[in-house]
Amino acid sequence: MSDSINSASLNLPSGTELAFGTLLNVCSTLNQPGTAQELLDNLLLQARRLVNAQAGTVFLVNHSQLRFVCCQNDARPDLCVAPKPYELDRVSLSGTRISVDETSLAGYVARYKEPLRIDDAYNMPSSVCHKFDTSHDKTTGYRTKSLLVIPLIDRLGDTVGVLQLINKQIPTGETDTAFTERDQQIALAVASLAAVCIRNAKLRDTLRDSHLDTIMRLSTAAEFRDDDTGQHIRRVSFYCETIARNAGCGPETSQIILFASPMHDIGKLGIPDAILTKPGPLSREERLAMQEHTVLGAKILNGSDNEIIAMAESIALAHHEKWDGSGYPAGLRGEDIPLPGRICAVADVFDALTSKRVYKNAFPFSEAIDLIRQGIGTHFDPWLVDVFLSARGEIEIIHEALTE
Ligand SMILES: [Fe+2]
Ligand SMILES: [Fe+2]
Repeated sequence: MSDSINSASLNLPSGTELAFGTLLNVCSTLNQPGTAQELLDNLLLQARRLVNAQAGTVFLVNHSQLRFVCCQNDARPDLCVAPKPYELDRVSLSGTRISVDETSLAGYVARYKEPLRIDDAYNMPSSVCHKFDTSHDKTTGYRTKSLLVIPLIDRLGDTVGVLQLINKQIPTGETDTAFTERDQQIALAVASLAAVCIRNAKLRDTLRDSHLDTIMRLSTAAEFRDDDTGQHIRRVSFYCETIARNAGCGPETSQIILFASPMHDIGKLGIPDAILTKPGPLSREERLAMQEHTVLGAKILNGSDNEIIAMAESIALAHHEKWDGSGYPAGLRGEDIPLPGRICAVADVFDALTSKRVYKNAFPFSEAIDLIRQGIGTHFDPWLVDVFLSARGEIEIIHEALTE
């Protein structure tokens, strides 16, 4: 299913022999596990290092347009507000899109599948048909001068993206110089590696997305009766991933939380309709029956060797425990509550507050944030609430994208 890379498959252009060892290092770096986004960030960094480019951008072809997916600029890091990781992409946010045509250099390169090496973007011969789009420089004040714009072409000969390297630097950091023919050959070699890696990463992403989609759909079955859109579990899942990542859990664990947390309420499958959808307050017996969804969920998920299902079991059991020990089902306290359960508690309550339910209206976003803050030390882990508040920008994006 995946293509492997070796020196024979690279088809390196002539002039890159000296850089071959470096390219093999790039190759092994690009073959590290990770999402397509991480791969592209890495690709851009490696390509910039090899040719001493101060800045760079990667575009991917998406529905016959070029979508800006990553950006780096050593001189102006503030300009590099790239789209957030994959998950935000999935909630239909997208970076800048440009047409595959002559109105921009990247568009031209994508269309004609030929690289461009430009010494001064503001002084191109009038005879050329490609244009440099100055709008980005105008809005940011950053001055583009030299450029290497390279098509990313896969084995089928299709353009999958464009690598744009900006402003060649000399070792002292000045950029009043130009990319060389050799730089271009090296960038072409990196591009040929990258196209294979992008294809592999996209296959992995597709597989992961289909797993996530299956989990979301099955988990929605448990939510259907009191949330007929099933969006609650989606938002909770993305909130959990955001909190985990910002808490320093690392990409792999954050991904497992993303996959596991949709199943937090799977035990609701065993709760009678009369209780689950009751509009008024629950009696003591009904409340106790409702609380059983934690234990039921853990039973459904119990005993799996799969780390996603094992974490889902832990979350299902612990997501209603409270930091001060007043939660259920076990009345665990503080760090005795497993971390994923503590993360899900913040995400789940926040989403319940901002959602309309049969028995209540939705709180406005900022009021819900204040209510979470009020739960520090009683309901929630104080440290995780700090993390949640510091990631407020990301939380708001997910909230807006996934709320009708
Ligand atoms: Fe629950
Ligand atoms: Fe929930």
